[in-house]
Formats: sequence, structure tokens, C-alpha cells
Amino acid sequence: MPSLPNISESDVPDEPTNGNSTDDSHEIHSDVSSELEEILPAERPAYFRTEFSRLFHSHGDLPYPLPCDAPELERQNVFHRVLQQVLGSNFVGPVHAVLASDTGERGIKALDIGNGNGIWLEEMSEQFPHVKFHGIDIVPVSSRTPPRNVDFEMHNMNEALRRTSGTMSFVHARSIDMAVTNYPALLNEVARILRPGGLFLSGEWSWGPTFQDGARRNTNPIPAIDSFVTWITDELYARNHIAPAGAHVHEWLSESGQFIDISETLEYCIPLDHNTDTRTANIGTDFRNAWRWYADSLLPFMRSTGMAEDRVAEMNRGYMRELDATPGLVAVYTVTYATKSLRGPLVAGR
Ligand SMILES: C[S@@+](CC[C@H](N)C(=O)[O-])C[C@H]1O[C@@H](n2cnc3c(N)ncnc32)[C@H](O)[C@@H]1O
Repeated sequence: MPSLPNISESDVPDEPTNGNSTDDSHEIHSDVSSELEEILPAERPAYFRTEFSRLFHSHGDLPYPLPCDAPELERQNVFHRVLQQVLGSNFVGPVHAVLASDTGERGIKALDIGNGNGIWLEEMSEQFPHVKFHGIDIVPVSSRTPPRNVDFEMHNMNEALRRTSGTMSFVHARSIDMAVTNYPALLNEVARILRPGGLFLSGEWSWGPTFQDGARRNTNPIPAIDSFVTWITDELYARNHIAPAGAHVHEWLSESGQFIDISETLEYCIPLDHNTDTRTANIGTDFRNAWRWYADSLLPFMRSTGMAEDRVAEMNRGYMRELDATPGLVAVYTVTYATKSLRGPLVAGR
């Protein structure tokens, strides 16, 4: 695993997406896959801006705090590989069954919300070549030449999804809670576009390392990491009501009244140490590095709040020191999945 590289304009990934523009004048409930326009190389820089030496999406008013440059995309790759090793798959739940069902002439479609560099979609498209996969994201950082059964679209997930009601067999949303301003509203949109019997799968990471053992958590041997996570959590909530979602998705799915067979909330505690578990023994070091990159990726956000530079540096140093020196740390990945009800809403959704 290389150390965090220096970051420059050249860290915008080379490949522009084939996503369409963010022109929201489309009929929002139509299926837009046939209307996508390719973003030309010359248009590409307009989708990025540089702030505090990192590259971000250029939608100034969207609240997502993390950059979209090469180091951040590499972090997403590491998290993706770690999950594959731990889960033994790119998903949890009855995905095979739902993607095998014949939906008639329309074919089988799946949507990934906040697709990032598109690695999950590309791998899924290989595993399920008969399925048409779509991704949405606010930045064109996915491949310009995706597999024939994948397309990437630029779209804000906090707005109505540009998909026809009842057409998706599977909707996947991984690590998007730092982007979502109203998760129950997003779930209403997910329910709208899923066909009856279609599957929603959510996976969310903890916003920092922690301990699996509640007793250790209570004695607080990582005060700097805890205060970093608390600060990020408070700040994102105060600005845009953005909050960690993993522990609440089950409750919101139930409250929406539009889902059945809601799984229990599954928690995977993934070690940041070298350890003896054969499934995870070799991932600790890479994973720990990726959590260093995560804290560095949040530096521009901290600075953007006006926090004094020495305080920013002190918080970052404290986090890194404890991350390096504390055995037994884990990151928690929380999964919930559910099936779209075969009938209309059971109770009024939010
Ligand atoms: C942490 S990354 C996760 C990427 C991918 N799902 C994964 O697990 O590898 C979150 C993604 O959400 C995207 N994003 C942030 N705000 C968004 C918004 N309002 N609408 C659509 N995508 C957004 C970011 O650009 C980023 O690619």
C-alpha cells in the first residue's frame, strides 16, 4: 500500500464518465438511460473544483464533505476490497434471487446510488451479465468505457430519482450517509422505483474507528479519535442534518410502510490490526492506512468551517497517533436489506 500521495489537478481520474449532465429539466420520473449524453473531455474540469489542495465536486451547495481525487478513490478501493474479503461477496442478502427473477420485457435493472469510482457496479455487471446496471453520482469519476450493461449518470441523490416507478429489481446504496440530507425521503424514492418484490440493500461505515468491545469503548482509550468523530458528526448535522444512518435504516424502512422482510441490522466489526482470523488476517494494515486517508480527506472540510489551523493539525495528529498506537480497533460496517412490498404503502410514508 503506497503512502498518501501528493495531490494535484492531475489527480482527477483520467476517465470521464458517460453520465449525462445534471440538467434537472428532465421528466424526473422517466427512465433516462436512453437519453444520456457523454461528458466531453473539454467539459470535464467544470465538474471539479480545488479547495485546500484537494479536488471536490463543483456543486457548491451540496453538503458532501469528502473530496473526489485519486487518494480518495483509492480509499474507496481499499474499503471495497476489505468488504469483499470479509463478506466473501459484493453483497449481503437475497441478491441472486432478485436478479434471477424474470421481469418480462423490461429486463432486470439495478441502480447503485452514489456509485463513486464505479468499482462495485463494474464487478456486479460481470457477475450478472443479464442485468442492466445504472449508477448515479455527482462527480464523473467512473469509467468512460464501462461494460455494455452499465451506465453512469450524474444526478443528486437528494432529488427525485430519474427512474420510472416500479422498474428496478435492485437498489444498492453503500457508504452514502455523508451525502444524504433526508434518508427517509430517499427511501420513499427507492420504494417508488423498485418493482414489487425488488430489493434494497444499504451498507454504511462507522464514521471512525472504535472498539468492538463495549467495555473498552466506555473507558475511552481513544479520546482524540472520539472527539474527531464527535466533531464531524455534530458539524455535519448542524449544517445539513446529515447523520450516521447505518443504525437507523431498519427503523426508517419499517416506518415507510413500503417494505417487507426487513433484515435485522447486521454489524460487521472489521479489525484494523493484523490478526489471526483467516478471513481478515491480511487486511489490517491496508485498512488502517485507508482510515488515515479518511481523516486527511476531512481536513479541507475542517478548514472550511473556519477552525484555526493549529486546532485542525492537533485534531488530525491526535487521531493519527491513536490510530497507530491502539491495538484492538475496528471499523463497523452496518448492513440492512428489505424487499419492496407487493402491495401499496402499509402506513403513510414520511
Ligand atoms: C464514500 S463514497 C462511496 C462510493 C461507493 N458507493 C462505494 O461504496 O465505494 C460516496 C459517494 O457519494 C457521492 N455523492 C455525494 N453526494 C452526492 C449526491 N448529493 N448525489 C449523488 N452522489 C453523491 C460522492 O461523490 C461519492 O462518490
